Amino acid sequence: MKFIIGNWKMNGSKEEKESMLKSLKGLKTKNKVVLCLPFTLLCGENHGITIGAQDVSNHDNGAYTGDISAKMLKDTGAEYVIVGHSERRLYHFETNEIVKQKATMAIKNGIIPIVCIGETMEEKNSGHTIAVIKKMLLESIPDSGEYIVAYEPRWAIGTGLTPSESEIVTAVKSVFDALPNPMPILYGGSVNADNAQDIVSIPYVDGLLIGGASLKSDTFLPIIKSVK
Ligand code: PGA
Repeated sequence: MKFIIGNWKMNGSKEEKESMLKSLKGLKTKNKVVLCLPFTLLCGENHGITIGAQDVSNHDNGAYTGDISAKMLKDTGAEYVIVGHSERRLYHFETNEIVKQKATMAIKNGIIPIVCIGETMEEKNSGHTIAVIKKMLLESIPDSGEYIVAYEPRWAIGTGLTPSESEIVTAVKSVFDALPNPMPILYGGSVNADNAQDIVSIPYVDGLLIGGASLKSDTFLPIIKSVK
C-alpha cells in the first residue's frame, strides 16, 4: 500500500470538491488516498474519502484570530494535516520549532501530521541537501506518536523539475536512517502520471504528495491508477 496524498493548496470550490470525491469514490485502489483540502472545504459530505487539512495552529485554543486548532480540525473529520509545507515556511516564516509544535498538537488531537522538509536549489547546488534535510527533520518531528514525513525539494515544487532517482534515494534513505522510529516517507514535487510509478518504486519511498496534479480528476486519477 502506498500513500497518495493530494494537496489542493489555496484552490477549490464546493462543486470541485464534490466532483473530485465522487470520482475518487468510484475508484478501486489498494493505495491510501487522502485529499488535503483548504479549511473552507473540510466540513460536509466526504463520501467516505479520507480528508486532511493543510495547516493547523500550534496553540490549543484562545485569542489567535484566523487560526484553526487541531481540535477544530478533528471536528471536521480531518484525519491528516500537512505541517511545515515549504510555502508555510516561506510565506509565514514557520520555523522547525513551530512545525514541531503543530505536529505535536495534531497528534494530541488524534490527527496524523505530514511533516514536510526539503532543501532549496541553492542548498542543493552547494552540496548541503542531506545536512539541511536532516536538521529540518530532527527539529520538526514530534517526540512521540505516529506521523508521516514528506521529502519535497523546494525547487521541485510546481516547477516541473524532479530530482534524479539516485538523488531521491539518497535523500529519502538519509531520512529513514535519521528517524528514531520507522515512519512512512513520501516524495513530493512535480509528481504526475508519467513519473508517479517510477518514483514510488524507489526504495524507502512510501508514497507521494501531489500539488498541481491533484486538482483535477483527469490528472489525479491516472496517478492513482498508475501506482501499483
Ligand atoms: P506540486 O506540489 O505537485 O504542484 O509540485 C507539491 C506540493 O507542494 O506538495
